[in-house]
Amino acid sequence: MVRREHTEDPLERIRERMPVVRSLLDETDDRAVFEDVTIAVSSHLEPKTGVYIERLRDAGADVVCTPNKTGSVHGDVVEYLEDEPDITVFADKSMSADELNQAHRDVLRRDPDLLLTDGAELLVKLHSEPEFSTEGVIGCAEQTTSGVSRARALEADGMLEVPVFAVNHTPMKHWFDNVHGTGESSLSNIMISTNTITAGRTVVVAGYGYVGRGIAQKARSLGADTVVTEIDARKAIRAHMDGHRVMPMEEASKVGEVFITATGCCRVLRKEHFEKMQDEAMLANVGHSNTEIHLDHLESLSSEKTDKGEGITRYTFPDGRRLDLLSDGELVNLTSPYSQGHPVTVMDSTFAAMLVGGRELVRNSEDYEPAVRQLPSRLDREIADKKAETLEIEIDSLTEFQQEYLQSWDRENIL
Ligand code: NAI
Repeated sequence: MVRREHTEDPLERIRERMPVVRSLLDETDDRAVFEDVTIAVSSHLEPKTGVYIERLRDAGADVVCTPNKTGSVHGDVVEYLEDEPDITVFADKSMSADELNQAHRDVLRRDPDLLLTDGAELLVKLHSEPEFSTEGVIGCAEQTTSGVSRARALEADGMLEVPVFAVNHTPMKHWFDNVHGTGESSLSNIMISTNTITAGRTVVVAGYGYVGRGIAQKARSLGADTVVTEIDARKAIRAHMDGHRVMPMEEASKVGEVFITATGCCRVLRKEHFEKMQDEAMLANVGHSNTEIHLDHLESLSSEKTDKGEGITRYTFPDGRRLDLLSDGELVNLTSPYSQGHPVTVMDSTFAAMLVGGRELVRNSEDYEPAVRQLPSRLDREIADKKAETLEIEIDSLTEFQQEYLQSWDRENIL
């Protein structure tokens, strides 16, 4: 494929920093693996996603793409992709939620063979709107926790008709993207947009899953006093053993200065919490949708709402307290005015996992029933090997004797 000349190429600096994505489909039998395949991509349309979309196209696909969220669209990336052959974009930097829904439908009207999603919106519409049919759809690879849980909910209700790879749940994704990528990009976006520091502040993290744990650990290592809230006793104990204070949100509301929700749930911060918070507390969400902070409660309890710029909305309460909401309660690391998304090093692995998931579905579709399942371990290891190589990390390998030892039940006699 001959690349067209662009005067402004927003992917230029990113492309060379995604060596795994760029080298993955280089083997001879992989080069045209997506020939004649129409792939629907729904993801944050920013430069790293652009490189991933190009890679799919260069491996033969006709790519139809849309954002998964309003607010995380980079206009220059959309403009660039619109000019590229075999890539169709349904996106606009300032699109509304309704327009985004229409864009998802426009993508599905192109009858994609394969869905590569972040949030599972295309998968849900495909299965729940009468206009669409799953006939001919090979499957879906889903890259975030909330999307996987929506796919599982479709499966639990007996509605799922295509195989789904829970790419989020593969180690090469969530060990790095959820923990480190989200952890670092969330804190840095909060601190840059509010012009504050983490050190010495009380940071409340709701949810101690992969994302919440990453945020809490990094906040503490920057000098914050960290508080964790949970609904799962095992996670709460883990947070406690990791050195964080654990308490219900009712209590955390009174002590927190920065609140970060990372649960995938809804209405985690609501009326009874806002009523107890300190003046100038900051509210940020990192979970997949803007449902974790109850925006209607903020609106109805406050007497004044001011746009402070930098993605900050200040809600003033009748008693004089002020609460600052960041990025309208959307994913703060991806929609703040300073957002560059996750660090490229991390997204190189995440998109690599999506690529191999898609490749597997196209190549071995007959092996997969309509169900949500893990990415096969051999594929996760394929990415790990390439990633380690690009990071120049060398590892040991088992000797024959060690392999025999590990495979034996009679270990004492072997030694
Ligand atoms: P996870 O399932 O590992 O962790 C979620 C945690 O929240 C669990 O420990 C659960 O017990 C807890 N939880 C659920 N409801 C709660 C509530 N009401 N109060 C307190 N704790 C509650 O999920 P993971 O991977 O940590 O993802 C969390 C969210 O972040 C998801 O929505 C995911 O899609 C999103 N995400 C966002 C990214 C970003 O760039 N902003 C990147 C990766 C994931």
